Amino acid sequence: MIDLNNVSKTFTLHNQGSAVIEVLNDVSLSVAAGECVALTGASGAGKSTLMRMIYGNYMAQAGEIRIGDVDLVQAEPREIIAVRREVLGYVSQFLRVVPRVQTLDVVAEPMRAVGVSADAAQARAQALLSQLNIPERLWTLSPTTFSGGEQQRVNIARGFAHAYPAMLLDEPTASLDATNREVVLTLIEEAKARGAAIIGIFHDEAARARVCDREIDVSRFTPGMAA
Ligand SMILES: Nc1ncnc2c1ncn2[C@@H]1O[C@H](COP(=O)(O)OP(=O)(O)O)[C@@H](O)[C@H]1O
Ligand SMILES: [Mg+2]
Repeated sequence: MIDLNNVSKTFTLHNQGSAVIEVLNDVSLSVAAGECVALTGASGAGKSTLMRMIYGNYMAQAGEIRIGDVDLVQAEPREIIAVRREVLGYVSQFLRVVPRVQTLDVVAEPMRAVGVSADAAQARAQALLSQLNIPERLWTLSPTTFSGGEQQRVNIARGFAHAYPAMLLDEPTASLDATNREVVLTLIEEAKARGAAIIGIFHDEAARARVCDREIDVSRFTPGMAA
């Protein structure tokens, strides 16, 4: 479902004499439907960079990044947008929302974008917010003023709202209490059971051991960093 072939990434720092930093060299990996793979490796190894390339935020210099049958390295912007809407979900580390949109609509939006009816989207949004222990009195408020942990749970509800065939998770259990951490791990297990291919960054080793089938040490693709 997610296939990378010989992907390389360099950054050119135009404001620093066009210095070129080689971050990742010749990355090849595959994640099948129903599988969860953890990205590991020291800080600076390129885990977040790799995830941003797979989501199409960073351009790869070389190689192929296939999500289903689309190669994101060659895709037109509108194809990338369609892949993100329908196929590839991304739970980033922090919630980014438009101000003044109520929490229920923040969570329902990815479902509305793929044509789920307003009622069905609302019902699933309510179920997810309950499951993640967001008090009902907050549902009609914008999450912009919520605590860090509440925002993270809204972010997770939104990320799991649509049943994406492929998902990227960047530290989804960070800073959650034990109860909510358990809910998130269950959502990941359910997504795997329905066939989602998942790539995750988890600093929580116990979480990783429970939901991930394998680990890929990104530092083996980092020039100058021993794996
Ligand atoms: N936008 C950028 N411009 C220049 N260098 C970057 C950029 N993003 C990341 N890097 C560099 O790429 C390397 C990998 O960073 P990152 O992917 O954040 O690592 P990790 O997530 O594994 O800690 C670091 O050396 C970092 O400085
Ligand atoms: Mg990182």
